[in-house]
Amino acid sequence: MTGSPDSQPKAYDRTTITLHWATAILVAIEFLIGRTTNLLPRGPLRVDIWSLHVLLGFALATVVVVGMLWRNTRGRRLPPFNRGGLHVAAVATHRLLDLLLLIMVALGIANVFAHGFPLFNIWHFAKFGGNDFMRSVNAWHGLIANIIIVVALFHSAAALFHHHVIKDGVLRRIWPA
Ligand code: HEM
Ligand code: HEM
Repeated sequence: MTGSPDSQPKAYDRTTITLHWATAILVAIEFLIGRTTNLLPRGPLRVDIWSLHVLLGFALATVVVVGMLWRNTRGRRLPPFNRGGLHVAAVATHRLLDLLLLIMVALGIANVFAHGFPLFNIWHFAKFGGNDFMRSVNAWHGLIANIIIVVALFHSAAALFHHHVIKDGVLRRIWPA
């Protein structure tokens, strides 16, 4: 473990922290909605909940893109927390999460058009492709959703391990203090 020298900031800037937790919360809500809504009987309530999923999905797409632009431009960069293999594993996990999030929102938006989605039964998006295309996009969207949750759980477990077992300051770097 290296941590930050005393002269350097010990936490990310407020915008990075806000965008990180907005991403995490939106992913969790999206997964919950995605894996439970079809348990409801068909009808207007089910369409409304899927519509919420789509609206939050567009919000997530914005947060993901703004978050990546921010981190790569004005966001605060902190020195690596780990050395050697642990550092490589941490960076690889973060970049994998970034990649999965981009694929997820792209497949989500594709899913909206593959369904010709009826937003709150008020606004129908244009429909592209047939039912096979829709089933295939939806299946990939569902599969990547499962993968992103597994990787995010691994990432969270690593952060909690640092905090509770190693007792270093890595969680405080991203915690909204
Ligand atoms: C879907 C949920 C989540 C996603 C997609 C996610 C994604 C990310 C990404 C991409 C980074 C890297 C930021 C950078 O490179 O500057 C990061 C950093 C971090 N995340 Fe998460 N995260 C999630 C949930 C969580 C949770 C639940 C925790 C804590 C329990 C957590 C703790 C951290 C910490 C401590 C860092 C900073 C690591 C460092 O400074 O090296 N994350 N997260
Ligand atoms: C990390 C974020 C997301 C997660 C975890 C997630 C999860 C899911 C899951 C598990 C399903 C069900 C798949 C199945 O039936 O096998 C689903 C369906 C769907 N998702 Fe997402 N999703 C996310 C983001 C998005 C985004 C960004 C959009 C669009 C803006 C979107 C639009 C849709 C649509 C249109 C459906 C199909 C709804 C229907 O069957 O009527 N999702 N999502």
